[in-house]
Amino acid sequence: MAKNKFFNRNVVSIRDFNSEDFSYLFDITDKIQTLKSKERGEIAKGLILGYVFYEYSTRTRLSFESAMASIGGRSLGISDVDSSSIMKGESYADTVKTISLYSDVVLVRHPSDGSSRYACEISDKPVINGGSGSEEHPTQAMLDIYTIFKEKKKIDGLSIGIIGDLKYGRTVYSLIYALSNFKVNIHLISPEILKIRDESIYDITNKVDMHNHVELSDELLNKLDVIYVTRIQRERFPDLQEYNKIQGLYTIDEKILAKSKSDISILHPLPRVDEISPSIDSTPNALYFKQASYGKELRAALLSSLLHEEPF
Ligand code: NCD
Repeated sequence: MAKNKFFNRNVVSIRDFNSEDFSYLFDITDKIQTLKSKERGEIAKGLILGYVFYEYSTRTRLSFESAMASIGGRSLGISDVDSSSIMKGESYADTVKTISLYSDVVLVRHPSDGSSRYACEISDKPVINGGSGSEEHPTQAMLDIYTIFKEKKKIDGLSIGIIGDLKYGRTVYSLIYALSNFKVNIHLISPEILKIRDESIYDITNKVDMHNHVELSDELLNKLDVIYVTRIQRERFPDLQEYNKIQGLYTIDEKILAKSKSDISILHPLPRVDEISPSIDSTPNALYFKQASYGKELRAALLSSLLHEEPF
């Protein structure tokens, strides 16, 4: 087995990992699912995942908790800052410090860019970025490319569309950085005001084939093997009037599906609002709930690899 380069590492940016690291993690993710539950339950016995979420979360927090439980560990943390000493004026730094005293690995989500990097300076336990502002969400990208790999059996050679809020969507940035390790064609589809922030991807533009579009045209749909749909990040808009103008602009529904390749894979980090019609949920193309369930397995593999030099 390849060497575990995740042991004791911070997972702050997906840029710190490469295709070798991804194949290692995918391998561990596959293997962890074949372990007997008794063996799996020994991996993190006596170990604790601590977390603090300064923003809402459903899947990230619950999949991490479920992953930690499945490897025999426990989780504790703050999911609702209103019920913590943060309301008494306690700083982010002191909150992270305290959680790191009570746990073996620390998961943080915060609305500011750079918040996870900062947490690493405070915590003496490995830090996992569970979403930092509109900057990054590295473990989401890991499970996104794991999902693509499981479905398509490859990543190289695919045409991947990313549609929606490319300006504020942090999952988009982590995904593009992750994909820049592969030979893919990326098609970015968004209204002009939600275009990708060029300054955040300038260093990979020469590494990966990327095209910008405003329309999800029939010609483009015909090319795509995967479409990654994102929610318009209402909470990050400085001006809600701007949000109202573009809300509901693209909706992936039966009509779009009918014009696409028959085996197009539809991914979404979730939550969705109105950008994917529930009427396509039962089609074989709709992978978003499978993706969410892979999230638990991949995060179990990641936690095992962070906590032990030999995960199992
Ligand atoms: C995303 C996030 O928080 O960035 N959700 C998630 O973790 N799966 C996407 C979003 O909120 O739109």
